[in-house]
Amino acid sequence: MKRSKLTTFFVGSVLALSLTACSGGGAGTTTDTADDGATTDTTAADPADITIGVAMPTQTSERWIADGDAVKEGLEAAGYNVNLQFANDDIPTQTQQIDQMITQGNDLLIIASIDGTALTSQLEAAAAEGIKVISYDRLIRNSDNVDFYVTFDNYQVGVAQGTSLLEGLGIVDSSGAEVSGHPTGLNIEIFAGSADDNNAGFFYDGAMDTIQPYIDNGTLVVKSGQTDFATTAIMRWDQATAQKRMEDLLTSTYGGTGEGLAGVLSPFDGISRGIITALQSVGMGPSIEQGLPIVTGQDAEAASVKLIQDGVQYSTIFKDTRKLAEEAVKAAEAYLEGSEPTANDTETYDNGNKVVPSFLLEVDTVNKEDIKTLLIDSGYYTQEEVDSGVSN
Ligand code: BGC
Repeated sequence: MKRSKLTTFFVGSVLALSLTACSGGGAGTTTDTADDGATTDTTAADPADITIGVAMPTQTSERWIADGDAVKEGLEAAGYNVNLQFANDDIPTQTQQIDQMITQGNDLLIIASIDGTALTSQLEAAAAEGIKVISYDRLIRNSDNVDFYVTFDNYQVGVAQGTSLLEGLGIVDSSGAEVSGHPTGLNIEIFAGSADDNNAGFFYDGAMDTIQPYIDNGTLVVKSGQTDFATTAIMRWDQATAQKRMEDLLTSTYGGTGEGLAGVLSPFDGISRGIITALQSVGMGPSIEQGLPIVTGQDAEAASVKLIQDGVQYSTIFKDTRKLAEEAVKAAEAYLEGSEPTANDTETYDNGNKVVPSFLLEVDTVNKEDIKTLLIDSGYYTQEEVDSGVSN
């Protein structure tokens, strides 16, 4: 069996004795194995001898490029070699990339999956080699071999999206408190994310738990009647698929003009832009002030932040990918140095086989007035990037 470098840093006379027993075990420990009772110090492998495989889903969405870059930079700054791959949202491409990372002897894997259920055999192979696996942003399901999960509080993302829709429609104020005498009977439509992404269910649940009471009391009306996750889910989070669904809804339910549609719950900026294109192409808007429905989003993609600045998209959810990358790097370092990463949630993320210890980060809602403080002052974007809608 080929061993990960994690297991090959023992030195001196204990080398042969220790290797098999410590496969996948910790570095930097002190071992007392020699007959003479002498203690032999072990040292962690030189990061320069370690390669970390980083599998990202796609380059079609800015956020994953930013994630990939930030993880690579962080790992390289810690001295590791990085094998970063993007998979064009194609499952066979991603499984092949991960297979290769394992056969090439990469020492640890950080994976943002495309289909969270498609990597069981890859992870089995990784475990057999003593390779630790960190699930990045999206939980890998149906496997015992996911060691750690770094992500944002995905349920809270959905709550923030639902709350933002309510706020945009004048039902709650910016503190989340219900506005007295708010409008009622407002038509909305609901979009969910990709059904094969574990996060999509959390976003949907958080958002629906937030808006359902207002649907139940008639404040909101989902005029198409399409409310369940399966019907509203957009495969692979695809912008064109979302645009087409919105066009179909406009034709079937809003007389082809969008008349009476007040808001759309959208889980991701790419989907939001597809929805907005469909709304504008039947003559709505072009801005909220001019009657465009309230549309939410997620990821603070530059193209959507520009739309928010221009008063077209109402909001997005900012997930600071720099912070997520930092947590992934910390977790990788912990494993490679022979310790365990620190979780702040050991209950929420059951992947079907086990509850995966997780580190969850908080998110922020971005409206027009938050762009400067949250995105520009923090150095996430320059004003030029926001103005052009393109990140560099
Ligand atoms: C991520 C979101 C992203 C979506 C589409 C989800 O797994 O958590 O941030 O909007 O994928 O890429």
